[in-house]
Amino acid sequence: MSCPALPEGFDFTDPDLYQHRLPLPEFALLRRTAPVCWIPQPHGIAGFDDDGYWAVTRHADVKEVSTRPEIFSANLNTAIIRFNEHIQRDQIDVQKLIMLNMDPPEHTRVRQIVQRGFTPRAIRALEDALRERAARIVAGAREDGSGDFVTDVACELPLQAIAELIGIPQQDRAKIFDWSNKMVAYDDPELAITEEIGAQSAMELISYAMNLAADRKACPAQDIVSKLVAAEDEGSLGSDEFGFFVLVLAVAGNETTRNAISHGMHAFLTHPDQWELFKRERPATAAEEIVRWATPVMSFQRTATQDTELGGQRIEAGQRVGIFYSSANHDPEVFDHPEVFDITRAPNPHLGFGGGGPHFCLGKSLAELEIRLIFNAIADALPDIRLAGDPRRLRSAWLNGIKELRVTYG
Ligand code: HEM
Repeated sequence: MSCPALPEGFDFTDPDLYQHRLPLPEFALLRRTAPVCWIPQPHGIAGFDDDGYWAVTRHADVKEVSTRPEIFSANLNTAIIRFNEHIQRDQIDVQKLIMLNMDPPEHTRVRQIVQRGFTPRAIRALEDALRERAARIVAGAREDGSGDFVTDVACELPLQAIAELIGIPQQDRAKIFDWSNKMVAYDDPELAITEEIGAQSAMELISYAMNLAADRKACPAQDIVSKLVAAEDEGSLGSDEFGFFVLVLAVAGNETTRNAISHGMHAFLTHPDQWELFKRERPATAAEEIVRWATPVMSFQRTATQDTELGGQRIEAGQRVGIFYSSANHDPEVFDHPEVFDITRAPNPHLGFGGGGPHFCLGKSLAELEIRLIFNAIADALPDIRLAGDPRRLRSAWLNGIKELRVTYG
């Protein structure tokens, strides 16, 4: 069985596809002709004994998969790309300890606990510190005159926001940053990071966070770690669980927001009318459009728990289903002129933060706050920022990443 609409051997998990031609034209083709289509992987994929997956490309179908966890389970690993084999600890399948890979009711319990750290009040409480941090980052870049926007500007705020939120001491933040970079970059040969290094970094980060949790349990402070691990009962996280939660945050909150900011800047600089509009009016709708446009997380996957049907296609129990947010976010059934970057777009029901099910992005408000604060700071202090070269993309089929964006700061 193969997808009749695509050439033999075509596979969306090939990171090289995403280097130059986004959004992929194949998504438009599938949405029109075969919206739920089998993509063979004749050599299988590590950790699975199947030989392919269903590619789900329409907005409505991505939402359906996301919101029906009893049929489309996250439990067998949600990421299409993985380094499962390399993360081994005490013979535990560590992927199962990551909340993204949990199903209800286990997921519900963990989610209810960690949500306490992400209340609107908790996010508002970060706003002044992050605004000040954004202004400092941008002032530093201005002094340099020109440079790489990714390292000078986009990287810093997301990491500081997570570190601030969970209460990671200042002196440990560079370490956390380094580990989280290595965990996701292993598909890019230029970065010379192997899967083993990625997995090793993940283990070091987990150990670090477990120690932090143990410290706070022994000696509680006024921070989220203390709140989440306060007591050893159903209403709090064990040190182990906390370790894996920090792992999820380091990837889910750091790389994603950084890439939204880098893509947002690139979109503004290649759409000068939108940059002028932003500087003048600062529309509240801009952050959502940046996330739709960038779609920093391009896909996740689920596994069918029973025989079912989706978009008129029969799916068998045990088969994997790839949900492609990058396709859904360009679905013309939902978005007028999806190819246009329009920061006043409203409504904007994009799926950049997920398809609305139990795993819907926990950090959406924080991410939008960061995007708003950093672009406000740039508009205030670097209004004449200019592109000085084409972006260099991260080699990945999962993250839509920019690893270098040369600019002059004006
Ligand atoms: C889950 C995207 C920022 C924390 C997710 C999911 C997506 C996503 C697509 C999976 C949704 C699903 O499976 O239905 C993004 C994007 C971001 C961003 C595009 C930035 C623009 C953040 C931030 C944080 C965060 C800043 C926290 C500091 C999480 C967590 C989950 C998650 C913890 C797992 C939730 C669960 O399994 O219940 N995010 N995210 N994300 N995100 Fe985000």
